[in-house]
Amino acid sequence: MKRYKDLSPPPRTIMTPGPVEVDPRVLRAMSMPILGQFDPAFTDIMNETMEMLRELYITDNQWAFPVDGTSRSGLEAIMVSLIEPGDKVLVPIYGRFGHLLTEIAERCGADVVTIETEWGTVFDPQTVQQAILQHRPTIVAMVHGETSTGCMQPLAEIGHFCREHDVLFIVDAVATIGGVPFYTDEWKVDAVMGGTQKCLSVPSGMAPITYNDRVERKIQNRKSIERGLRPVGDIPSAVLSGHHRIASNYFDLAQLQDYWSPKRLNHHTEATSMLYGLREGLRILLEEGLEARFARHAENGAAIVAGIRGMGLELFGDDAARLPVVTCIYIPAGVDGESVRSMLLHDFGIEIASSFGPLQGKIWRIGSMGYSSSRKNVLHVLGALEAVLIHHGVSLPAGQGVQAALRVYAGQKEVTYQ
Ligand SMILES: Cc1ncc(COP(=O)(O)O)c(C=O)c1O
Repeated sequence: MKRYKDLSPPPRTIMTPGPVEVDPRVLRAMSMPILGQFDPAFTDIMNETMEMLRELYITDNQWAFPVDGTSRSGLEAIMVSLIEPGDKVLVPIYGRFGHLLTEIAERCGADVVTIETEWGTVFDPQTVQQAILQHRPTIVAMVHGETSTGCMQPLAEIGHFCREHDVLFIVDAVATIGGVPFYTDEWKVDAVMGGTQKCLSVPSGMAPITYNDRVERKIQNRKSIERGLRPVGDIPSAVLSGHHRIASNYFDLAQLQDYWSPKRLNHHTEATSMLYGLREGLRILLEEGLEARFARHAENGAAIVAGIRGMGLELFGDDAARLPVVTCIYIPAGVDGESVRSMLLHDFGIEIASSFGPLQGKIWRIGSMGYSSSRKNVLHVLGALEAVLIHHGVSLPAGQGVQAALRVYAGQKEVTYQ
C-alpha cells in the first residue's frame, strides 16, 4: 500500500498578489474546536465578525458578512442577486478582473456595456461619467485594485456621480481591502466585494461583502415579486423591475442575509473554521489600526518600487495609478522570466507571480499584502532578485536595490535610476 508522508509544507516567503502568508494567530484560531452554527457561542462570533467588517469597510451598512467560497463568490453573490436579465450593466475594464465582472454580468443575463482603457492605466473618472450618461446603466461594476496590472482606480468621483444619477455602484475590492484605504459610505459605493487571502491575510475560502439599503431593496423586491407580493417601500427607478427569480440558491443574498440576521434562518452549513480565521484576521487588523496598516502597506510598496528602480529595472504601469500592494516589473530583455521565478522559489524559498493575458511573459508581479507585507520580506525579495538576475547574466548595479529600499525605510527620499 502506498504510504503518504505527514503534511509538511516547505517554509515560503510569499510575495505574490495572493494567497499570501497567514499570521500564526489566524492559523491557531482555525484549529479551534467546531461549534454548531446555531449555538449561541457561534452566533456571537458571527455578530462580532459583522461588527468588525463594518469597521473594515468604514460603513454604517447593516449588511456586512462573508460569503463562503473564494473571492469570486462575493462577486457572484452580489451580481447574481442584483442583476436581472436585461439590466444594463456598465463595466469599465482596465485589467483581467474587469473581464471577470463582465463575464459574471453576462451570465446573469445583463445587457453589458464595456469601456476599456489600456492595461497599466486607469480611467479618468470623467470618461466613466460620460459613459454613464451615454448608456444609462442600472449598475456600474468596477475593480478598485487590479492585481493583473498593479493599478488602482480612484472611485470617489465615480461613486458620487452614480448616486446623483440613481445608478448602483458595485466594486471589487478583493485586492485592496485591509491594505489600502477604502471608504464605502464616503465614496457612495453601494456594494463592495472583498477577499480574505490578500491584505486580510486569512486563507482563501471566504468573501466578506457589504451592501447598503439601496441594494437590499432591489434584492428584496425581486423576492417579493417572486412570491407574488407587491414591491415594498419607495424604490428608486433604477432599482425597480424585479420580476426575475434570483438564479442561484447558494448566492441568494435575500436568503444569506436572513441567515446572518437575528432570524438565523437556515441556509447553508457555515464554514466554521474559516469564520474563526476571518474573525482573528479582523481582530489583528483592528489591533494594528486601519491607518497604521495602510501606512505599513504604503511604506513597503514604496520600498519595493525604490528597490526595483535602484537595481535599474523598469516598472510596468502608470506611476500615478500605482496599486501600493502589487508592483509590476518588466522582465529584462533576453531573460527567461519563469527561470528567474523558479530559482527564487527553489533556492531562496521566495514566490513572486507571473502574469495574465497580454502581459504574460512580459512582467513579474511582486505582492506586499497583509502578513507578507513586512520590511524583512521586502528586503529578502529585493536581495534575492538581484542575486538571481546577476546569475541569469543581467548586468545591474549590484546592491543598489536593497540600498534604495533601506533609504525608504530610513525616511530618505527615493533615489531613481532611469
Ligand atoms: C481583483 C481581484 N478580483 C477577484 C479575484 C478572484 O478571487 P478568487 O480567485 O479568490 O475567486 C481576484 C483574485 O486574484 C482578484 O485579484
